[in-house]
Amino acid sequence: MRLVVTGGAGFIGANFVRFMLRRYDDLEVVNLDKLTYAGNLENLRDIEDDPRYTFVKGDICDTVVVRAALEGADAVVNFAAETHVDRSISGPQDFISTDVLGTHTLLEAVRELGIARYVQISTDEVYGSTETGAFTEESDLAPSSPYSASKAGADLLVLAYHRTFGTPVLITRSSNNYGPYQYPEKIIPLFITNAIDEQALPVYGDGLNVRDWLHVDDNCAGIDAVLREGALGEVYNIGGGNEVENLSLTRQILELLGKSPELIRFVTDRPGHDRRYAIDCGKLRELGWSPETPFETGLARTVSWYRDNPDWWRKIKSGEWREYYAQQYAELG
Ligand code: NAD
Ligand code: TYD
Repeated sequence: MRLVVTGGAGFIGANFVRFMLRRYDDLEVVNLDKLTYAGNLENLRDIEDDPRYTFVKGDICDTVVVRAALEGADAVVNFAAETHVDRSISGPQDFISTDVLGTHTLLEAVRELGIARYVQISTDEVYGSTETGAFTEESDLAPSSPYSASKAGADLLVLAYHRTFGTPVLITRSSNNYGPYQYPEKIIPLFITNAIDEQALPVYGDGLNVRDWLHVDDNCAGIDAVLREGALGEVYNIGGGNEVENLSLTRQILELLGKSPELIRFVTDRPGHDRRYAIDCGKLRELGWSPETPFETGLARTVSWYRDNPDWWRKIKSGEWREYYAQQYAELG
């Protein structure tokens, strides 16, 4: 099987490429990635010489590049996206380009080339926030941020291609992922690395927003289940079943590192900040999947990974990241 993964140099994409090459011997993986600030070939250092793996630098919005990369593929999994909510608030343009138009470019290529399966990697953020209960795949879409609105737009296009043209699509909507190789702008790697350096941990608002944490390996297993066994035209939620308030998460990180709660700083809330995400994953469980990583174990392992791999994140934190951080967290002084 020849699998094209887009965005494979990012956090989840890199973990997925590694996961699939480990799980299947007879797999060829092509990784198409633009290498934006979030794309990092260091994330795949250990497999770059694997003869089953090829890297192609390119933009999913580029019709010619996409066609060439997808030619001969049996399946495509699209991870490529702009992914950070705060950046979508300070500058939404790239989100519309990559997340919406890039998805459209891929769908056109899948249609023209007659590729058998296309998996769109989406997010539970397309459902918006809920104080109670959990969203199913049938729930209405009510995105709050330019990021989640772009992802919702892409989901609607993907489903429309299925209905209109019979394009063989599937969608996964996962909750918040955590694990190794996550860019230190998302809360878990940002707070772990800041705490290691005795820097402030900027908690938005009252810190009582809830996220459902999913270990990236459990997401990879869920995506693989959908890729192999999902029904075409269907959406599958993938959640960790670990609802945690941000403040509690922050305290757990500090405790694992033996650092003081005095590092916590409450800062101005994110505009349009979703209070709580929660999804029902019964549909994917029917395919035999369930998350295997208890949050306490996964978080401890993740903290250890960042502690053991300072070169990986220090390099990032000395580049583009610094400018972003100074602007995003100006009130920390
Ligand atoms: P990431 O930001 O770590 O990586 C994104 C990757 O996409 C990078 O390698 C980047 O270079 C690449 N990319 C960006 N624009 C591109 C373009 N125009 N053409 C080609 N490549 C491009 O993202 P992530 O956290 O790994 O997320 C992967 C996917 O999973 C995204 O679609 C995201 O919406 C979705 N998702 C993420 C989470 C999460 O918690 N991280 C949760 C649910 C869904
Ligand atoms: P984030 O990791 O940006 O993921 P998302 O917004 O996609 O859920 O944020 C997770 C939660 O942590 C969210 O409620 C916002 C909060 N948060 C902070 O309190 N401070 C921060 O510096 C960041 C980045 C996030």
